[in-house]
Parts: sequence; structure tokens; C-alpha cells
Amino acid sequence: MSYFATDEREKAKLRDYTSPEGRGDLYRYNQKENRTVLEVLADFPSVQMPFEWLVQLTPPLKKRAFSISSSPLVHPNQIHLTVSVVSWLTPWKRTRHGLCSTWLAGLSPNEDHLIPCWIRRGSLPRPRPSVPLLLIGPGTGCAPFRAFVEERAAQSVADPTVAPVLFFFGCRNQESDFLYKDFWLKHAQGQGGVLSHEKVGGFFTAFSRDQPRKVYVQDKIKEQGARVLDMLCSESFKAAIYVAGSSTGMPADVTAALEEVLCQEGGVPREDASGWLKDLKRAGRFIVETWS
Ligand SMILES: Cc1cc2nc3c(=O)[nH]c(=O)nc-3n(C[C@H](O)[C@H](O)[C@H](O)COP(=O)(O)OP(=O)(O)OC[C@H]3O[C@@H](n4cnc5c(N)ncnc54)[C@H](O)[C@@H]3O)c2cc1C
Ligand SMILES: NC(=O)c1ccc[n+]([C@@H]2O[C@H](COP(=O)([O-])OP(=O)(O)OC[C@H]3O[C@@H](n4cnc5c(N)ncnc54)[C@H](OP(=O)(O)O)[C@@H]3O)[C@@H](O)[C@H]2O)c1
Repeated sequence: MSYFATDEREKAKLRDYTSPEGRGDLYRYNQKENRTVLEVLADFPSVQMPFEWLVQLTPPLKKRAFSISSSPLVHPNQIHLTVSVVSWLTPWKRTRHGLCSTWLAGLSPNEDHLIPCWIRRGSLPRPRPSVPLLLIGPGTGCAPFRAFVEERAAQSVADPTVAPVLFFFGCRNQESDFLYKDFWLKHAQGQGGVLSHEKVGGFFTAFSRDQPRKVYVQDKIKEQGARVLDMLCSESFKAAIYVAGSSTGMPADVTAALEEVLCQEGGVPREDASGWLKDLKRAGRFIVETWS
């Protein structure tokens, strides 16, 4: 850009950004503020870059992955997604919006749209109906588990002996972002519900901001320690654990809570609990898929 700048001050500023001394300024101006190519060009209007240069210098959009949150058994010709519309404030208090999630949210459900997409096998294997499940999915982490529960509910119609599901869900407020509330509650009720206590399953919620002290899924896992331990260790269950959602602190905190359950409820020595879970991972019975 400095090569094409005709204004001397702009040229100097751009040269400064690319010098070793200017690296910090560039990071603060560009990365920390998540500036787009268009915004940078607007900040340096004397840069008259030929279009073919611009096309070469602009990186292609990266693909965004989303978990499929519908069962192919129940919706053979559809794919449902559960997308959080991302926005945040930069250090200079500029509101930024996630590109793909904002674009998706702006599409009208009443019109036809062409959505360029691809499908690839995810890292969460589709569980066999005979495997009991311990699911932990706060926020949009519930996306793949909505598909799992929907599928298992459909399977249970033909085969009432399908294995139970214990699901820990968390969100900010019961009133604002309790995703698929009616769906979970329906499957947690009654005789046949795959999340129902009658089926030895369960559905537990952590609403983090509905009280002064934060409550997270890991708190509920500890509260339900006996049930969790039974699901994991008893001869009749030997459940598989699936964790999905934000990669920031949740997976480590959930793993620590599971270790605590093994120690407190199962009498496993603290130094062995982590190894026990690692063995479970190696055996393909503890699977984590997270995103930031
Ligand atoms: C395997 C996999 C499965 C996924 N499944 C789902 C799913 O089911 N549902 C779902 O909603 N998402 C899911 N994601 C995440 C999804 O792919 C996108 O990353 C997400 O939707 C954001 O994309 P975007 O284009 O809207 O935002 P972008 O334009 O990509 O913006 C996100 C950028 O903003 C930054 N950012 C975000 N918040 C802040 C903040 N508070 N402060 C500073 N910077 C911030 C991030 O670092 C990132 O660089 C999944 C990701 C993976 C890898
Ligand atoms: N503006 C909004 O109202 C709104 C609502 C939902 C999501 N979003 C945005 O959408 C994106 C994704 O949201 P999301 O709902 O999928 O996931 P999320 O932001 O990760 O939140 C899901 C739940 O997990 C909780 N949580 C935070 N840290 C945790 C930890 N270490 N262990 C366990 N749970 C933890 C959150 O509580 P706390 O957040 O209370 O700590 C919240 O209750 C984020 O960028 C978020 O900012 C915005």
C-alpha cells in the first residue's frame, strides 16, 4: 500500500507500520481492531491500488464450520444449524460483527437463498443407539446434541431399549437464550423421553446469569456426581462422554469437574483421575469438539 500511496504522510505511516519498530502499532491498529480491507483503504484514501493488485492481496474468506443439529433420520432432506450471531467490542470500543453468522442471520426465511456450503465428517462420531451418553454442551455447544437426542428419540420408537442420555446444558438466562427449551423439556418428560429419569437419563441446566453467583455446567455435573459416576462406571452403562461448545475455559473446567466426581463419588485417587479420563479419550469414549 505504501508503494501506491501518493500522500507523503500516508506513505510514511504505512512504511512505519511495516518497520520492526511499528509492529506494535500495526497490531493494535489492524489485528486488535479487526479492520477490514475496505476500512484500511478508507483510512488511506491516497492509495490508488490497481484492482488486480487488490484482488491478489486480499485473502480469500475462510470457511466457517457449523455442527449439524438435526438428525438425518428425522429430517432426511434438511440440515438444521444452531448459529450464535457473534458481535464484540474492540479495545477502541468499535462494535464488530462476525461475518458469516451476521450474514446468515440477515437472510430472510421467506425468500430462497443460495448458501455456498460443503459437508465434511465432523470429529464427533455418530453414537450407536446401544451406547449410553453423557452430553455436555453449553451455548451453541448444544447443536450436535440436538441431533443426537432427536435421532435417539426416533430410534426409541422402534426399539424402546435404546440407551439413556444425560445432558448438561448451560446458557446465560432462562428467559433469553435457553435454546430449544421445549424440545429438551419434551424429551425429559414422561415414560418414553430419552432424557427422562424414567429412562435413567436426565436433563440439567445451568443458567449462568440468573443469580448473583455464576452457575456453570460443571457445577451441575458435580451436583449430580452420583448419577454421572453411575453412568460412566457402572457395569450396566459405561457411557461415552461428548463435550461441545466454546473452547475458552469450558472444556478444561468440565474435565476438572469430571475428575472431581471420580475422586469424590468414586473414591478414585486424585492422581489417577486424570489418567482415567485420558484412557477414556484413547478408547474413543471421551470426545471433545470446541470452537472459539
Ligand atoms: C468444528 C466446528 C464446529 C462449529 N460449530 C458451530 C455451531 O454449531 N454453532 C456456532 O454458532 N458456531 C460454530 N462454530 C464456530 C463457527 O465456525 C464460527 O467461527 C462462528 O460462527 C463465527 O463466525 P463469524 O464469521 O460469524 O465470525 P468472524 O467474522 O469469523 O469473527 C469471529 C472473529 O471474531 C473474534 N472475536 C469473537 N468474539 C470476540 C470478542 N469478544 N473479542 C475479541 N474478538 C472476538 C474471533 O477471534 C474471530 O477472529 C464451529 C466451529 C468449528 C471449528
Ligand atoms: N449478546 C448476547 O446476548 C449473546 C448471547 C449468547 C451468545 N452471544 C455470543 O455468541 C457467541 C457464542 O455464544 P454461546 O452461547 O455459544 O456460548 P458462550 O458465550 O460460551 O456461553 C454459553 C454459556 O457458557 C457459560 N460459560 C462461560 N464460561 C464457561 C466455562 N468456563 N465453563 C462452563 N460454562 C461457561 C456462559 O456463561 P457466562 O457468559 O455468563 O460466563 C454461558 O452461560 C459468543 O461470542 C457470545 O458472546 C451473545
